[in-house]
Amino acid sequence: MTTLTSAPEATDLAGLVARRVPGFSLDAAFYTSQDVFDADLAAVWARCWIFVATEAEIREPGDFVTVDIGPHSVIVVRDDDEEVSALRNVCRHRGSRVLTERSGSVGNIVCGYHRWTYATDGTLLHAGDQAPTFDRSCFGLRRVHVRTVSGLIFVCLADEPPADVAELTSTIAPYLDPHQPLRTKVAAQHDLVEHANWKLVMENNRECYHCEGGHPELTCTFFPTYGYDRDAVPARLMPAHERYLAAEAELEAACLERGMAFAEVEALEEERVTAFRVQREALDGAGESYTLDGSVASRRLLGDFDTARLGRASVHTQPNAWFHFLSDHVVVFAVLPLAPDRTLVRTTWLVHEDAVEGEDYDLERLTQVWDHTNEEDGEFCARAQQGVGDPAYVPGPYSPSERQVESFAAWYVARLREELAR
Ligand code: FES
Ligand SMILES: [Fe+2]
Repeated sequence: MTTLTSAPEATDLAGLVARRVPGFSLDAAFYTSQDVFDADLAAVWARCWIFVATEAEIREPGDFVTVDIGPHSVIVVRDDDEEVSALRNVCRHRGSRVLTERSGSVGNIVCGYHRWTYATDGTLLHAGDQAPTFDRSCFGLRRVHVRTVSGLIFVCLADEPPADVAELTSTIAPYLDPHQPLRTKVAAQHDLVEHANWKLVMENNRECYHCEGGHPELTCTFFPTYGYDRDAVPARLMPAHERYLAAEAELEAACLERGMAFAEVEALEEERVTAFRVQREALDGAGESYTLDGSVASRRLLGDFDTARLGRASVHTQPNAWFHFLSDHVVVFAVLPLAPDRTLVRTTWLVHEDAVEGEDYDLERLTQVWDHTNEEDGEFCARAQQGVGDPAYVPGPYSPSERQVESFAAWYVARLREELAR
């Protein structure tokens, strides 16, 4: 008897990893295969520190958000001691999803199935009709490792999380803390589902080779020379580069005067699990914020700033986030994998806790640049997904300005290599 279809062959993960050529984009299977996606969940998403939310989203005890990292659902909650807790969103009775809303506020955490009731730190408080021998203390919600830095919340699903997160937190805090992120509130949060593998979304973020022409709103203020070595800026970008150098000199002086961290720190070596990069860079136009003319989007500046011309303190972390801290607002991006060809990009805008919508800021003006930029990036990534899924695709070479894409790809392959060796 013949069959019309045969079972698909399992992806040769070890072969894919071994064949990866540095300096070239990844093989198609990395972006299209369900097997690779499952391996990514194990090797990256269940091992690394993942950025999931901001403290501004859970300001009061009982405030929570739920975040799905592949099949893992995590409750991130401000507990009764005002600490940030992260808990597995799986009831210890018969496993029901406990909280089903994306965000909200609770007194206790109650499973809707048989009403087991947990404190905000996960301790089981009440389970009805139990045998006398039942020991409540054995059935608290499972805890997830959590770290906060400058109002950014990272969780790690592994039993033993990467210890090198300490270097990330100590390095980036001096750049971000002057913005006083704990005194901010959420002005907007927008979710975008991109029709692309999560790695295409991250790679797209790690270069600005596509910015010129691709991002008309962003390049009003974001110098399109990002990623180029200073001596390799193409002639057509020299006018922008000259403006950049002048703005950088002014910004460096402003930071020096105020004791604010300025220098670039790049910690993207592939062996570093919690790899990151931080830099304060000048903005074009009025040089204040991400708006079409570069002037502030919120008149209520963050922290104790006495000037709006502080550029952007920008951080990116492997595997899933990037952040921009400006004088008047903060904008953060979390990437979360949904399927081999679908990825959630969650963008959150924070403003000063006392800023008043309609008086200090206009929501449309605040979100305009990155809403458009995200849409444009979503289109680029969807096109890339279509292309890498075409049998004609073969990996192509990164340009010098795409060196951070290579850093990401090498870092990612190193995580798979580690997983295969376990
Ligand atoms: S499954 Fe949660 S109380 Fe029964
Ligand atoms: Fe982009």
